[in-house]
Amino acid sequence: MSKPVRIGLIGYGFMGRTHSNAYSQVGHFFPKDSVTTGHHIVRQAVCGRDEAKVKAFAEKWGYASYETDWRKLVARPDIDAVDICTPNDSHAEIALECIKHGKMILCEKPLALNGEQGEKMVTAVEKSGLPNLVWYNYRFLPAVTLAKNIVAAGELGRVFHYRANFLQDWTISAELPQGGAGLWRLDAAAAGSGVTGDLLAHCIDTARWINGDITEVSAVTETFIKERTHTATGKKQAVTIDDAAIFICRFENGSLAQFESTRYARGHKALYTFEINGEKKSLQWDLHDLNRLNYFDHGVPGDRRGWASIHTSDGDHPYAGNWWVPGLCLGYEHSFTHELAEFLKSLDDPKAPKAYPDFRHALGTQYVCDAVLESARTRQWVKVKKA
Ligand SMILES: NC(=O)c1ccc[n+]([C@@H]2O[C@H](COP(=O)([O-])OP(=O)(O)OC[C@H]3O[C@@H](n4cnc5c(N)ncnc54)[C@H](O)[C@@H]3O)[C@@H](O)[C@H]2O)c1
Repeated sequence: MSKPVRIGLIGYGFMGRTHSNAYSQVGHFFPKDSVTTGHHIVRQAVCGRDEAKVKAFAEKWGYASYETDWRKLVARPDIDAVDICTPNDSHAEIALECIKHGKMILCEKPLALNGEQGEKMVTAVEKSGLPNLVWYNYRFLPAVTLAKNIVAAGELGRVFHYRANFLQDWTISAELPQGGAGLWRLDAAAAGSGVTGDLLAHCIDTARWINGDITEVSAVTETFIKERTHTATGKKQAVTIDDAAIFICRFENGSLAQFESTRYARGHKALYTFEINGEKKSLQWDLHDLNRLNYFDHGVPGDRRGWASIHTSDGDHPYAGNWWVPGLCLGYEHSFTHELAEFLKSLDDPKAPKAYPDFRHALGTQYVCDAVLESARTRQWVKVKKA
């Protein structure tokens, strides 16, 4: 008999919607007989501070009830797992409260404002033994998982290079305020950092997953607009987030890498790309064409050698067989459903290796982000702590 996992969702913004979509889809596409065997999702409650809005959200997305105070939701005996979809400055406080109440936790990234906060979360959750997940969702796109599988099988031979970009252009206007709904990302008190924790964190998570730990970094950051009006005070205040961050680094396996992220790349909305170059093969991926994995195999005879573009929509590609028929595309939203399916699968078999990032994995990424910011501040190479 399948056991319910009664979800309490906190925050009904962008991520609240993507996760709610995954909660409603996972049982249809990853049914008992394929990935998950013993657990199913129940949309039990959603929490937001505005009663009219949270009530409307609960009705629209099929939650049985709502709360306006997250502490009440966390304390409810009819909630098994709490999903933290609030800005970064609240992740640690909510997660620690969940642990006190014995709730499983699904937390949005970045794990915390910094490594110090993250360490407290990891210590507490590991002591409790509660299942915990962080939504580094890009891992779960079929093409990205395929890249991971190819590298894990040793097909690239020795890896020399990794490079990744995450480029946007939505903060170029000096008139854009900082703080408040939608714009908390520009306020370091709420976000912890700028593009480093918001965008680079995704690139770092994927890179560590595919290519192993990063050992040391050298970074440069810039804040292009130095003052913005704060939504809360109506006054001009110093901007303390990084608008752009670029770093080079070394991986434990001896490979070198470069990463770049900015919200000032005019024309780019969410251009996340990565490339990995090995002795025998290279792989390249682009979020704007997310179903394709570009693949160069030096083993092919010279006159046929070239970049191939694998459309990862066939039944034998990761996750693709659970959806439509070969050749049809999946999108950004499916990555969340796949990560959730892995979480449910792990509840069925807690001793099996986890196929999703947990708090400790996310702490490793947090340490790289911290090192990037420290290196930019000190203009020195910085060694990365091991999680
Ligand atoms: N995995 C990804 O691809 C991805 C993408 C975007 C955002 N994120 C992360 O998700 C989190 C949320 O980002 P978002 O884009 O959904 O932000 P958002 O601004 O769209 O939504 C945040 C929600 O939290 C609510 N909230 C804030 N404080 C609250 C409180 N005290 N009690 C209850 N609700 C509260 C807000 O009202 C809002 O509904 C962040 O940590 C962000 O870094 C991850």
